[in-house]
Amino acid sequence: MTNAPMIDLRDTTKKYADGPPALAGVTLSVAAGECVAILGHSGSGKSTLLNLIAGLDKPSSGTVTVDGTRVDQLGEADSARYRRASIGMVFQFFNLLDDLTVLDNVMVPAQLAGIGKREAKERAVELLESLGIDRHVKAYPQRLSGGERQRVAVARALMNEPALLLADEPTGALDSSSAEDVRELLLDLNSDGQTILLVTHDVQLAASTAGRTIELVDGAVARDVANTVSGITVNGSAGAVR
Ligand SMILES: Nc1ncnc2c1ncn2[C@@H]1O[C@H](COP(=O)(O)OP(=O)(O)OP(=O)(O)O)[C@@H](O)[C@H]1O
Ligand SMILES: [Mg+2]
Repeated sequence: MTNAPMIDLRDTTKKYADGPPALAGVTLSVAAGECVAILGHSGSGKSTLLNLIAGLDKPSSGTVTVDGTRVDQLGEADSARYRRASIGMVFQFFNLLDDLTVLDNVMVPAQLAGIGKREAKERAVELLESLGIDRHVKAYPQRLSGGERQRVAVARALMNEPALLLADEPTGALDSSSAEDVRELLLDLNSDGQTILLVTHDVQLAASTAGRTIELVDGAVARDVANTVSGITVNGSAGAVR
């Protein structure tokens, strides 16, 4: 364990050709083992923030450091390598490959990282078991429910044991019961020590899943608060969905 933060942004700005900056001088740090929710209206810069942390995009100014790596300074090949080794990503619409089985989808990141097929398969099956979807290993994603697909996407994101799990509206396309399953999955992963950044519009999801909420308004940090026990109690109603 080191004391260095898992994520550290210093005065990070992202400007596109026209319009106001998508991110306007964001300074924040996240410790290893935290689950932090990023809350904000549409267009407030949430996905931009995740993209910079994942090295998918470069800031216009400021720094982005993840697990000791200056992500903003990586070239294309190193950036891809960094993502394969350190980042797992989950999106609203799953982004699974429809012509691969569940098992093959989950194995993709390991194979891209050059891990042997046998070892990749073992780990994929293990993950699918632990996420409760092992009976679907041979199915194609389109046959699964939304909640099942999202669990496959989470398994794929965890394949290379990433230091950091980034989730962008992972429950946005799910019904309330599947959303609750995914919420519980994120809680379990975090209690096992996984560092998670969870982007959401949903105040209740943020408060009931993450230990801390950072709210973006117009690309700037408007609020950065610990989610108190009373907050969790208030949002305990989310549990009543089941
Ligand atoms: N490639 C791009 N080119 C130009 N502007 C962009 C680009 N990507 C994002 N933006 C702008 O940056 C701002 C922040 O976008 P971002 O996607 O980060 O918002 P968001 O908070 O994720 O929104 P949503 O909740 O709708 O997903 C928006 O005004 C958007 O139009
Ligand atoms: Mg977004």
